[in-house]
Amino acid sequence: MSEILQVKNLKKYYTKKNIFGKQTSLVKAVDDVSFSVELGQTLVLAGESGSGKSTIAKMILRAIEPDSGEIIFDGTKISGDPSSLQKIRMEVQMVYQDPYDSINPNMKIIDIIAEPLEIHRIGNAKQRLDMVRQVLHEVKMEPVDEFMTKYPHMLSGGQRQRVVLARALILKPKMIIADEPVSMLDVSIRAEILELMDALREKLHISFLYITHDLATARYFGQKIAILHLGKIAEVGPIDDVLFSPKQEYTKALIDAISDPNPDNLTRERKIQSNL
Ligand SMILES: Nc1ncnc2c1ncn2[C@@H]1O[C@H](COP(=O)(O)OP(=O)(O)OP(=O)(O)O)[C@@H](O)[C@H]1O
Ligand SMILES: [Mg+2]
Repeated sequence: MSEILQVKNLKKYYTKKNIFGKQTSLVKAVDDVSFSVELGQTLVLAGESGSGKSTIAKMILRAIEPDSGEIIFDGTKISGDPSSLQKIRMEVQMVYQDPYDSINPNMKIIDIIAEPLEIHRIGNAKQRLDMVRQVLHEVKMEPVDEFMTKYPHMLSGGQRQRVVLARALILKPKMIIADEPVSMLDVSIRAEILELMDALREKLHISFLYITHDLATARYFGQKIAILHLGKIAEVGPIDDVLFSPKQEYTKALIDAISDPNPDNLTRERKIQSNL
């Protein structure tokens, strides 16, 4: 199987300064991390708050430069290569936790979704309209003509996240990085959005990097999982292997930390399933 993304020995350290600007401590945000994402599959990057998940995403998107290590996307080394920026901005799209952060509340849905086409000067007005219709159809916002003229505040949280997805899809990306895409949503619609993303993965052959601290939703969605702990990969492998027979104490502790009203009665497997 071919790999769409390879991350090799990636490092990013920060120096935390005190209020007088003096160096006080070193934060090893990402500390020698290697993993790969197979073409058309989902890798879950899981770990507690502060484990380095978003820092990895930012380096892949080239929003920040790694201290060292390599990022190879679609066969091309992108780290340290300014000419790769355009390719990455088109082919890797990001879906964030809070749809309100990523869409302009004063714009109509049609303009929000068409904006990336304008930025990248793709198509004429009619072609853009057709493409907006097509992606709204892909994310099941129907009837599409009715939704296009609405404003974000007229939609539910789940519908807003569908708009964010449509906006990501319009550039026909090869990969979507989804950083906690459902954690702000009502529990009842989380599965719906994850299922939609999984269907898009299959239909459009998009690869996903799904970033979460929530191991319960991870199983819904991923084929492989990498458990991140203090900037290092604690364990990586097929998702059922890692979650149902974890080899590392840290992974076990993380699974046991999934809250449950009656934890004494549950095996680890049931705990994960009952949290879905
Ligand atoms: N710009 C920065 N300057 C200094 N330290 C930073 C910076 N960005 C991140 N860090 C530190 O790096 C570590 C990793 O942060 P990161 O945001 O990648 O974690 P995360 O796994 O995404 O957490 P969360 O689940 O809360 O989003 C943390 O200790 C954080 O405080
Ligand atoms: Mg984060």
